[in-house]
Order: sequence, then structure tokens, then C-alpha cells
Amino acid sequence: MITKAQIRKLIQTAARARRRAHAPYSKFHVGAAVIGGSGKLYGGCNVENASYGLTVCAERTAVFNAVAAGEKKIRALAVLFHSTRLASPCGACRQVMREFGKSMPVVLANLRGGYRVRTVDDLLPDSFGPEDL
Ligand code: THU
Repeated sequence: MITKAQIRKLIQTAARARRRAHAPYSKFHVGAAVIGGSGKLYGGCNVENASYGLTVCAERTAVFNAVAAGEKKIRALAVLFHSTRLASPCGACRQVMREFGKSMPVVLANLRGGYRVRTVDDLLPDSFGPEDL
């Protein structure tokens, strides 16, 4: 479950993080935000590299930022794409989200103020996770 107020805060934090995107190659600026187990919000942006394949997406940066700050759980994630369409996270980010639970809500937002909410399980069904080890 995610409330409208949480969605609004997540998208706001993602929008702030998006301004810090390092995307000189694709020019596709992405911001993400997560709510940690403590209730605190953490932002992340995509960080590209001249060696293109080393690029890290905004979603993973936000998750890693929260974990590096000491969070053990991630309660929800939002991603704000550089798009008027409603895009969806890449496969690598889906697997990283999966680590923190199948039922975690994921808010997919665009630059028009539109969004939709999915769960990790919607985005990555029949997935591999910590319980499988
Ligand atoms: N990107 C993200 O940050 N998140 C996604 O879910 C998809 C793609 C970034 C990676 C790269 O910097 C740019 O968007 C274009 O692929």
C-alpha cells in the first residue's frame, strides 16, 4: 500500500534528484527516490560514463544511496523519466528492486505529472530472490 501523500513526496524527491543527472551522452535525465524502512526519503539520478556500458540508472543509485545510509528495507520507489510517456525501469533495476520485496510499490512518473503504480512482482514476475538461495 502506498498513499497519495507518499507518492507526491517520492515524485518530488525524484524530481530534485533528476536535476543532478549526469547524462551528457543520452541527454535522458532520470531521477528516482525511495522510502527507506526508517521512513526517510533518498534520491538518485542516472550517472553515465564515457565508457557507456558503465552507466548506472537512477533507480539503482537511489536504492544504493538508501542502503549506504544504513537502511535495511526499501518500502517504495518512484522513478521520473525524461519523457512525456510513461516509461518503465530497465531489467537490471527491476532485479535490484526485487531484492527488497516482491510487493514493493513502484511509481512510474513522467514529465507531464502523470504516473502509474506497479509492484515489483508486476514488473518482474516469476523472479529470483533471496529466498531462493
Ligand atoms: N535509465 C535510467 O536511469 N533508468 C531506467 O530505468 C532506464 C534508463 C538511464 C540510463 C541512461 O543514462 C539513460 O537513462 C538512457 O538509457
